[in-house]
Amino acid sequence: MENLKIRSFAEYKKAYKKSVQDPEAFWSEIANTFTWQKKWDKTLEWDFRKPEVKWFQGGQINITENCLDRHLKKLGNKTAIIWEPNDPDEESRYITYRQLFVKVCRFANVLRNNGIKKGDKVCIYMPMIPELAIAMLACARIGAVHSIVFAGFSSSAIARRINDSECKMLITANEVYRGSKKVNLKEICDKALEETPSIEKVIVYRRTVEPTNMVEGRDSFWFDELQKASQDCEAEIMDAEDMLFILYTSGSTGKPKGMVHTVGGYTVGTTYTFANVFQLEKDDVYWCTADIGWITGHSYIIYGPLAAGATTVMFEGIPSYPDYGRFWEIVDKLNVTHFYTAPTAIRSLAKQPLKFVEQHDLSSLKVLGSVGEPINEEAWHWYNDNIGKGNCPIVDTWWQTETGGIMISPLAGITPTRPTFATLPLPGVQPALMDETGNEIKELNADGRLAIKFPWPSIARTIYGDHQRYKEVYFSAFENMYFTGDGAYRDATGNYRITGRVDDIVIVSGHNLGTATIENAIDEHEGVVESAVVGFPHDVKGNALYAYVILYNDVEPSDKLIKEIKDLVANTVGPIAKPDKIQFVNGLPKTRSGKIMRRILRKIASNDTGNLGDTSTLLNPEIVDEIMAEAKNI
Ligand code: WT7
Repeated sequence: MENLKIRSFAEYKKAYKKSVQDPEAFWSEIANTFTWQKKWDKTLEWDFRKPEVKWFQGGQINITENCLDRHLKKLGNKTAIIWEPNDPDEESRYITYRQLFVKVCRFANVLRNNGIKKGDKVCIYMPMIPELAIAMLACARIGAVHSIVFAGFSSSAIARRINDSECKMLITANEVYRGSKKVNLKEICDKALEETPSIEKVIVYRRTVEPTNMVEGRDSFWFDELQKASQDCEAEIMDAEDMLFILYTSGSTGKPKGMVHTVGGYTVGTTYTFANVFQLEKDDVYWCTADIGWITGHSYIIYGPLAAGATTVMFEGIPSYPDYGRFWEIVDKLNVTHFYTAPTAIRSLAKQPLKFVEQHDLSSLKVLGSVGEPINEEAWHWYNDNIGKGNCPIVDTWWQTETGGIMISPLAGITPTRPTFATLPLPGVQPALMDETGNEIKELNADGRLAIKFPWPSIARTIYGDHQRYKEVYFSAFENMYFTGDGAYRDATGNYRITGRVDDIVIVSGHNLGTATIENAIDEHEGVVESAVVGFPHDVKGNALYAYVILYNDVEPSDKLIKEIKDLVANTVGPIAKPDKIQFVNGLPKTRSGKIMRRILRKIASNDTGNLGDTSTLLNPEIVDEIMAEAKNI
């Protein structure tokens, strides 16, 4: 990793310049520091109009050789993963690079023994335990494509994802601990499995001793499978553009988008960005609190840190258990030097009495990170003052599932930070601010829509099974550019501040939710005619959801109905998608072409009704006053 690191602001500026002037030479030099099975012939071929992006064509590379094999000689005995359990009285697990290598190879053979081969899709629905890391790396070892589904998602959300990519296998755990609760994951899976004909095998890791329902011929236990597997497993030969994984993210239509990441560019991109943004030194301990079910966990708990030879912490639990000091207790216990979390976690911890922080020393910390949503000024300062004690640079990292790795962020200790600003693009990233008519805004001190002009190695290559949608969502808004869906402001020195989504996606507690998905769930209720869901500002979650619901004439609004709708959303999408507020309405403001005017609904939900803008194009302007009047009681 040392050879990847930029060490000063002058070096950053130099690297950035080179990456724009000669991107191929720039990335070739970086890619050369990795372990390739075969070097590439062509560094980059791209056309955002098609769209098509190919990095390192002709090259062959297996990410696990970069995360594991190549470290064995020098770092074999270094801790790769420290696992911290939900229950502080249970023992932490320390797994060295050599141990992890053996475990991954062994489980890779389990996959092979069960008929999984290169190109097969494997769904992983697991809690934050080392076996989740082992399962994903084992897939990568043999070229199977993992599709990890966050273990908070419902049965039908799992089934939808499994069916979309026709996974052959499901890997799960019997139960999961979450604070003082235990959730039966296998039961949730069994329900999903009723609708997933492509699944042939299910492997179940026993996290608890409770009896587990197992289906003969289909289900087997992780440990029983391991007994039958050897620990020698050659890494599969992988073309640079072979698929590494699919990860679903919300879209503006109801259907989740299976973002496809490929091996070569993703390996290079995540490792390079990890090394430069966080600036770890030899014995540092890095902890990202995300769940591996999201891209942050893929790129910055597992692949990036391991490829860089770092020690990465995996935490099974939640920040409030057994009390609100848990994060800080772990920082002290493990001597965490780099701590990376989401603004929503910071805000919820900032609300607690300061004693939960003050009981802990926190002097091991060197760098703090933030990801997932804009960090507000207050949260930034609380983090900086109380956790960083004014001594730790904060890296506010902007990126997306689609970008695979960090795009705009300070480099820790190198880039001057500014509260609420993600600051400057990483080398290789060429942002542009666009106005609504599709022209680039070149000025400083300007607001616009954020697009990217040139490909970077870890960009998602397509939406699984739907390239047309990939083109429409990301490459149609602006000519020959990738559109992020975010708005941004650029200050006088070129620093970027991300102002939030400009489409129908709402970020709730750092989770990316498509409003259409939630509307579809609500509309499933037999009493509901139609619904519209929007986000509104919330002081802990960043945004919360507000649902406007039209009922059939013979259905009476009631608290029971509200609960039914919330439960329905929790069961179809997941508990994180539950609306905070539900308002029953007689109609929704619609344009003459039948589109719901969400801008107005957003303003009403945010209690920002001073200037509703132009409502004259509405088919039913009178409904706005009615909704507004009743919103006061919600
Ligand atoms: C959306 C992507 C990237 C990993 C986690 C989320 C928002 C992300 C920031 C940030 C402001 C941010 C954007 C983006 N976002 N990081 N530092 N400042 N906004 O991945 O679920 O794909 O969501 O999260 O709106 O488009 P994701």
